[in-house]
Amino acid sequence: MSEDPAEHCRIVRLSGDAGARVFEQCAALHMAAITDGFMTRLGTGFLTEFYRSLASLPDSFVLVSMDNGAIDGLIAGSTNSRSLMRRAVLRRSWRFAPHLLRFMVRREFLKKITETIAYPSKSGFDDLPDAEILNFAVSSGKRGKGLGRQLFAALVDEFKARGTRRIRIVTGALQDEANAFYHRVGAGRVGDVSVHANSKSLVYIYEIQ
Ligand SMILES: CC(C)(COP(=O)(O)OP(=O)(O)OC[C@H]1O[C@@H](n2cnc3c(N)ncnc32)[C@H](O)[C@@H]1OP(=O)(O)O)[C@@H](O)C(=O)NCCC(=O)NCCS
Repeated sequence: MSEDPAEHCRIVRLSGDAGARVFEQCAALHMAAITDGFMTRLGTGFLTEFYRSLASLPDSFVLVSMDNGAIDGLIAGSTNSRSLMRRAVLRRSWRFAPHLLRFMVRREFLKKITETIAYPSKSGFDDLPDAEILNFAVSSGKRGKGLGRQLFAALVDEFKARGTRRIRIVTGALQDEANAFYHRVGAGRVGDVSVHANSKSLVYIYEIQ
């Protein structure tokens, strides 16, 4: 069997009624790959519901690569990320409540949740595209072999099919692999933003050809 994971991977778009196990795998991959993100701190239960919401909403989607039934890569996007967190989390709050209750007594978390929901309304974002890459991860043993490129190409096709021509990308300044990736695929850096205090993210635009 080939050692190159990109050779035999299968990329599929998840539907909202996919089994719970699928969204648990997305959450587990997210937790393992994006270790310093705020959402990671909210835990597997929150992320499981979050990916289910993204797969259910009409203007967002989750693409995953599968190898022998196991998810080894994911990329999620939205054509309108400005109000996405409100729609994904607040309007389905009964699903998220059990996973958020333990954080509700902690001011720091409430502040960060509010900042995460509000950040697309920050000044300077008005001129940026509404479409955004929400999350992107390849499992650690399969990086550097072209799987990320395949997922990114599938995301571009999905956006194209939805009529999107420009994509916003916001990623942590310290996420070296992701920044190298976006630079390599030709995304143009247009600025910086602080979603939370003491954290810098880099903002890119990718123009779909
Ligand atoms: C970002 C990520 C998804 C890329 O996936 P990947 O499968 O390793 O990417 P690929 O192998 O398809 O690489 C694509 C290009 O990016 C470049 N690249 C990827 N990782 C790189 C690194 N660490 N340093 C330099 N260049 C890198 C490759 O050289 C490649 O260019 P080429 O095709 O011209 O040779 C993966 O590194 C990852 O999951 N990182 C942790 C999670 C993360 O930071 N997510 C993004 C924020 S939400």
